[in-house]
Amino acid sequence: MLSGVPQRTQHAQIYKFMNSYHSPGLTHRPQLRMYRASIGFLGTFLLLQLLHCGMGLDNGLALTPPMGWMSWERFRCLTDCELYPNECISEQLFRRHADLLVNEGYADAGYEYIIIDDCWLEKDRDNKTQKLVADKKRFPNGLNPLADHIHNIGLKFGLYQDYGTNTCAGFPGVIKHMQLDAQTFAEWDVDYVKLDGCYANISDMAVGYPEFGRLLNATGRPMVYSCSWPAYQEDAGEMPDYTSLKQHCNLWRNWDDIDDSLESVAQIMDYFGKNQDRIQPHAGPGHWNDPDMLLLGNYGLSYDQSKLQMAIWSIMAAPLIMSNDLAAVRPEIKDILQNRKVIAVDQDVLGIQGRRVLSKNQIEVWSRPITPVVSNNQHSYAVAFASRRSDGAPYRIVFTLKELGLHNAAGYNVEDLYEDKSKLGIFRPANQFITRVNPNGVTFYKFTVL
Ligand code: GLA
Repeated sequence: MLSGVPQRTQHAQIYKFMNSYHSPGLTHRPQLRMYRASIGFLGTFLLLQLLHCGMGLDNGLALTPPMGWMSWERFRCLTDCELYPNECISEQLFRRHADLLVNEGYADAGYEYIIIDDCWLEKDRDNKTQKLVADKKRFPNGLNPLADHIHNIGLKFGLYQDYGTNTCAGFPGVIKHMQLDAQTFAEWDVDYVKLDGCYANISDMAVGYPEFGRLLNATGRPMVYSCSWPAYQEDAGEMPDYTSLKQHCNLWRNWDDIDDSLESVAQIMDYFGKNQDRIQPHAGPGHWNDPDMLLLGNYGLSYDQSKLQMAIWSIMAAPLIMSNDLAAVRPEIKDILQNRKVIAVDQDVLGIQGRRVLSKNQIEVWSRPITPVVSNNQHSYAVAFASRRSDGAPYRIVFTLKELGLHNAAGYNVEDLYEDKSKLGIFRPANQFITRVNPNGVTFYKFTVL
């Protein structure tokens, strides 16, 4: 057991968590009833606003992990449009990717948000209004026409900013203009805000991040709120307060930036595996851990490694935010990104994040309880066998279902989520399950409870 916790106990914890499922708003109701009796409508309204402001985000968004496309991992801070006309951070890049998201079938598969990451700003705010200004050369029309285009083709629009004095790439941050900036985002029809944490005091974040979330809410425009707050705390050796985070943010970056390599994917897997006891229980509808972007379609991952990242991210209930050049994604990688069965695992309505449950001969087993659930509270499971081996041949490994934590006496109907001939039949707890995993690859199955 990697976590040192027996599997049954781990799953019992998951069930316990499920049973205590909540919407952050529910806890306010008794207080509201009490006051409603004694004060008039206006008073109730004002109080509602106050409680809402005081108690958290509660914006009803991101009930399943957000899916979309973001510029950073692939396009970084390329700003020279003469040298890199198809790659520079510009209106053209985001229009092109919005169109590709729709025309290449990604939108039909569930990808929805087109998110501008860093390097979209002028170096200075507007002199008179102090408003943020999009780079005048690269976004000559401002952001509204781009937002309109994104909305007109059925997508949603996301934007990066930073809580500190500057973004990580050195453009102006929100810290001294939070109200104005929240309002400006609403005017620009933003649907998703990624708030980074460079050039800020970590000790201020516990106040600052919730405050910006409140200001976003106060605009009246629903905006998904992605916070980088815990990543900065973890980096500084501080323990994030996940209970507070999930009240104030729809998702949060837990740890380091992803880079275009298997090594980076493996480090993130290890981080989430090692720290799962304190991280995993906090994910759920409306509030997600974020292990960072999908690399698929870029330079660093092989076909098998691409399947690996997609499978493990869906086990982790991760936001599926691609960062790639959608015009250059090879067909076999596109198939992985659009694999409906794998996406369904990621988007499972229970929203229970999975865990690394065991490791044998360098084959890690990652497992996630999903729907359907039968009446005796037995879940179905998505189970990924992730190979950390690089000795050339595919590695054959055998587990009983019991070893995998699958105890339903009536058994499970097993389906391979990556193969077309996918039906493997019925397996019961005492049965052996044999799989053969390619080096640095994955096999991925759904065990539907009977
Ligand atoms: C930080 C974030 C990245 C990206 C860059 C932009 O490193 O973690 O995801 O947004 O800043 O500068």
